[in-house]
Parts: sequence; C-alpha cells; structure tokens
Amino acid sequence: MQYLYKRHTYTKEKESLLMAQPYRTAYHFQPPKNWINDPNGPMIYKGIYHLFYQYNPESAEWGNISWGHSTSTDLVNWTIHPPALLPSDTYDISGCWSGSATILQDGTPAILYTGGDSQNVQLQNLAVPKDPSDPYLVEWVKSPHNPIMTPHEEEKESFRDPTTAWLGTDGIWRVLIGNERKNRGTAVLYKSEDFVHWTEAERPLHSSSETTMWECPDLFPVLIDGENGLDISEIFSGIKHVLKNSVARSFVDYYTVGVYDHHNDVYTPDEGSVDNESGLRLDYGRYYASKSFFDSEKKRRIFIAWVNESTSREIDLIKGWSGLQSFPRKIWLDKGGKQLIQWPVEEIETLRTNKVDLQNITLEAGSKREISGVTAAQADVEISFTIPSFDRAEVYDSNWRNP
Ligand code: FRU
Repeated sequence: MQYLYKRHTYTKEKESLLMAQPYRTAYHFQPPKNWINDPNGPMIYKGIYHLFYQYNPESAEWGNISWGHSTSTDLVNWTIHPPALLPSDTYDISGCWSGSATILQDGTPAILYTGGDSQNVQLQNLAVPKDPSDPYLVEWVKSPHNPIMTPHEEEKESFRDPTTAWLGTDGIWRVLIGNERKNRGTAVLYKSEDFVHWTEAERPLHSSSETTMWECPDLFPVLIDGENGLDISEIFSGIKHVLKNSVARSFVDYYTVGVYDHHNDVYTPDEGSVDNESGLRLDYGRYYASKSFFDSEKKRRIFIAWVNESTSREIDLIKGWSGLQSFPRKIWLDKGGKQLIQWPVEEIETLRTNKVDLQNITLEAGSKREISGVTAAQADVEISFTIPSFDRAEVYDSNWRNP
C-alpha cells in the first residue's frame, strides 16, 4: 500500500476531494484517513526523512494505537507506508504509544517506544529495522528483550514517551522517560551500555514542582551563537540545552533554556526561565506533543508537533480523519540566549507559486482590505507589520493559552 502525496499537484480527483473536505490541509502532513496524534521518531536516514505518528488504522477516533509511517525527500511530499509498529505482544497489546528514534554508533536506527500491557501498565520497548539497508525502513522487528524498562509500582500509568537517546562522553547511552513523581512533572533518566539493558539513574535529570505529568519530553543542545542544529550527543562549551515538556493537565508544550551538567546528569533551567506552562512555548495555538530531530544533512534541528483541530468526535467520524502534523520548523537559539527562534523549513518555498505582493499598506483600526489575485482555498501568508507605538497594546493574559 503506497500513496504518493504531491501536495501542489491538483488532480481533478484531489480537487473534488478537497471541495468535499474543505478543512483538510494542503501542505501539512496528514495520512489519507483516520486518527493521528503525536509525531514519533522523526529522523533522517540514508537521505530519507522518516515521520512516524500515533495512528489508529481503523478509525478517526483515538484507539488501536500504532505507529503510522511516512517518508519524504523534502519534508513536503510524503509517501505513506504500512504502519511500522502495531500492538502485537503482551508488552504493547493495548497500544504502541509515543517514542523516538536514535541513530546508533554503527549508523543504524533504533526505536524506543512505550507499550501498554493488558492492564495498561506503561513499559518501554525497543524495535530495530528488519533490513537496515532499506532506506525506507518499512519493516521493524520488536526486541526479544522487551520490555526493557518497567515502571515503579505507583507510576504504572505515568511512565512513557522515551526521548531520542544520547551518548555520554563515558560511552554510556542515556534516555529520558516522561513521568510524574510525587506530584512533580519529571524527566526520569535511564542509562545503558548496549541499548538493550537499561538501568534507572539515581535521580531524574530534572523535575518541576510547578507542573504535573510530563509527556513527550525532548532534550537537545543548541548553539549559543549560530543557527545550525546539533546532534543530541554533542557537548562542548559553546552550547546550551533546551528541555521541552508536554503537560498533560493543560495540553501545553513549554520549554526552558538551561544547562545540562553531563558529569552529574542534571539539567538546570537558567535563572528566569519559567518552569511551568506560563513559560516559553513554540506555539500558542493547538500544538502538542512536539518532538525535534537533528537533520544531519542540512545541519539543522527541526520540530514537528501534533495539531489537534477542534472538531468533535462525532464530526471526526463523519469526516473520516482527525489530527495533522505541524509544518516542520527549523529552530535555533536567539542571540540573547533566552528563547528559541523558528521558521518553516526552507523547502516550504517549493509550494509557493503565484505570488501576490503588497507593500506599504496602512491599516486603520476596524478597516477591511480585500486582497485581489488570490483564489486559493488555502494560502501561505507572510506579513511584516510596523507598529508605530505599543502604548495601547494589551498585556498577554495566560488564560488565552488554550484556544
Ligand atoms: C500525548 C500522549 C502520549 C502517549 C500518546 C498516546 O499526546 O498522551 O503521552 O504516549 O499520546 O497516544
């Protein structure tokens, strides 16, 4: 089963489908049908981008959670492959939940993901490609050692979403698992010498008393000066680290900028970097469970997130789909060192045709302006505003945070 999505070629068939489905997006990633949520294991392997995602192969509502799988050469046009992971064994029979991909020292990828057993106990599992010489990595094999990490008794349902693992200077792998411990959002740290046998570290990498359960943590280094991305294992003096967490109680992704002390395996947000949902966010709209990866070919770090549009379950079942992935964004640290900067990946330019360019327009309060020359149902709009004064600007109210 392979569908080729050329998002900018409009066949008659596609046009009528779009007319019937005006809210399907034209250039964000969506599978042809059914439910999706979190992006999982994004990576580049042998020049091919891989995007996995939480996917229900049977319906437009959450359930039967599997790893849908798509590949692309440009992060714009995607080929859909059969699901990479389906619930099949005692350790993932109630679902193959979120996780990440890591490129191992021999250059082959491995997936760490959360499985739920028949009692919904959350367990971490390993899967590897059946044929690493296949750049599309269509078949994945679950490790006979699964589950490779098991939760504490009181954390059976709050132990999930492994990050990409990183290699310490001591040659030992580290990975974070999202967790809530003693009412604190927590990033539990595990270590391994062989990627198969994992032991919990003495203490979590970081936790915050100001939040509850952290889902889908994401830790990565950023250059203090420069836009290039870094491999997760890079460590030298010219970097800072970012820790992003997805807070289940509020459905908010926030991040802190800080320092990862790799000798003691402790992450500390910089002073002033707020460690709860009032902190910095990559997006103030519907944007959750984001995950980044290092694009080793173009030397950039890219973020993707689940955009859960706001239609009801009933409507989703009628329209036959729910959820989309945000357009991939390149991110880097702002010169001031306090926040991230982001921009859609440059490949978005390939979708831009029929440019309508307007300059020097004065907008009066309450005025309307029709833009002629645009007939598309969906358009990509870039606007620069010059605001003469901020005297009458409203102060941001954190109650606006969940539209
Ligand atoms: C986040 C999340 C993850 C979990 C997955 C299940 O949206 O709840 O914590 O692994 O979705 O689909």
